[in-house]
Amino acid sequence: MLIAGNWKMHKGPREAAAFCRALRDAALPDDVDVVVCPAYVSLEAAVQVLADTEIGVFAQNCHWEREGAFTGEVSATMLREVGVYGTLVGHSERRQLFGETDESVAARVRTALAEGLHVIACVGETLAEREAGETDAVIRRQVGVLEHDENLVIAYEPVWAIGTGRTATVEMAREAHETIKALLDVPVLYGGSVKPDNAADLLAQPGVDGALVGGASLDVDSFAAICRAASREV
Ligand code: PGA
Repeated sequence: MLIAGNWKMHKGPREAAAFCRALRDAALPDDVDVVVCPAYVSLEAAVQVLADTEIGVFAQNCHWEREGAFTGEVSATMLREVGVYGTLVGHSERRQLFGETDESVAARVRTALAEGLHVIACVGETLAEREAGETDAVIRRQVGVLEHDENLVIAYEPVWAIGTGRTATVEMAREAHETIKALLDVPVLYGGSVKPDNAADLLAQPGVDGALVGGASLDVDSFAAICRAASREV
């Protein structure tokens, strides 16, 4: 099981360091891989605090070139230099608000993997796409541009479930995860309003290998509770 906390545009370096100190001291289960995804400016602080732990630090995005004239972008090489272990790519907010396409997502994923980063690539349908019966086609299109890699994980995040308090039903999650796994044999996380009180049910579904958590990852107690809900230890 992998539980990743996507902090989005929250927590500068000071807050990130304080959170990571608290997470380091929290009782986390040994059988769950735990990852935090701070904003770029907070990565180094998180890496320093978590240096001697098993908790991984991921960026939220990364460019497809190693360097060049790409104002405002950050490369995988730079992320590696500060000790970052992996990166999210293709989050629906990147796709919807910042013009990310299936092709740019695929390019970012390829370079990040080639540079030795682990990658959580995000896919998922919008409400309009689900209502139009296009969920399956959207997932196939978004996953279809990616190639298998042992360091690649997919996060299935229905866009209508992100930050809305609405989660997919366990059947919807199971169906989407089955579709993804039939296309690519990689671990698949569920994301979209995962909270301490719904995590256990979602994570118990076959084909659900963990969770990508937004809002509920900003508070140490709720994030640690989700990590514990993912544990199979008794
Ligand atoms: P949420 O966000 O848990 O706040 O719905 C999930 C995500 O965007 O990764």
